[in-house]
Amino acid sequence: MTQTTINRYGAIASEIYDIDKPDFALPDTRFHLARFESFGRPILEPACGSGRTLIPFLKAGHDMAGFDPSPDMLDRCRTRCAEEGFAPELAQARYEDFGFSRTFGAVLVPVGSFTLIDDFAVAMDVLRRFHAALEPGGVLVIDLQGLGFLASNSIDRRRWTAPSGDLLTCEGTRSVTDWFRQRAESVYRYERWRDGRLIETEIDIMAQRFWGLDEFRMALEAAGFCSVSVVGNYDRSRGLRGSDRTWTFEALRA
Ligand SMILES: C[S@@+](CC[C@H](N)C(=O)[O-])C[C@H]1O[C@@H](n2cnc3c(N)ncnc32)[C@H](O)[C@@H]1O
Repeated sequence: MTQTTINRYGAIASEIYDIDKPDFALPDTRFHLARFESFGRPILEPACGSGRTLIPFLKAGHDMAGFDPSPDMLDRCRTRCAEEGFAPELAQARYEDFGFSRTFGAVLVPVGSFTLIDDFAVAMDVLRRFHAALEPGGVLVIDLQGLGFLASNSIDRRRWTAPSGDLLTCEGTRSVTDWFRQRAESVYRYERWRDGRLIETEIDIMAQRFWGLDEFRMALEAAGFCSVSVVGNYDRSRGLRGSDRTWTFEALRA
């Protein structure tokens, strides 16, 4: 298997992403917008995808930059930004190799995209790269799906009708659960059907590494961050619960 087939977000997957997750359909965007209200410093969104987070932040007046390795996701992001009258700095890059000529007041990685780094040592390097990308006093905010996701191996089978009338389907099946490396792989098959005929198929491997709560706290500290805090399920009004599906970590570059 070549590296390029992993977490690829190709054309059908990207089209589905935008149909399945319109802006503000998930609770993360309002939560992060509230966190960064009146922030006034530039924000970098790694793995910005098609702009589901980046564009509401631009509309709220933030100075945003983003990167993503998927040409399909990035094209969608550029087109959507242009339609809204924005031209943010967007780069085709990976967590492992991104580089900008300026530093940022914040790095924001919403909706669990950090779990797409499926190796511990690589993830530690990326946290150090985030640290270096921040101005002194800058803040890192990362949403993570909890370790419990490693145990879930139900089949993900869904379908959508695209605005063009095409039927888009996806079927994701867990193929690897590696408890030693806290890593899971699922094989995703995406299909495009038109007038009852299958006209396009994409196979993508989704590989993720899931983190323990204290493990990620310690990882942030080992990468040089301080003042680590965690919120469960985007709800600041209460403490963490064992049933929380999402943890939002916040940490400072001193
Ligand atoms: C779940 S989407 C999130 C998109 C966007 N951040 C949002 O809030 O909707 C995950 C994104 O991670 C990107 N991705 C996958 N592997 C990556 C890597 N190694 N480095 C950076 N981004 C990656 C994908 O191309 C995809 O756009």
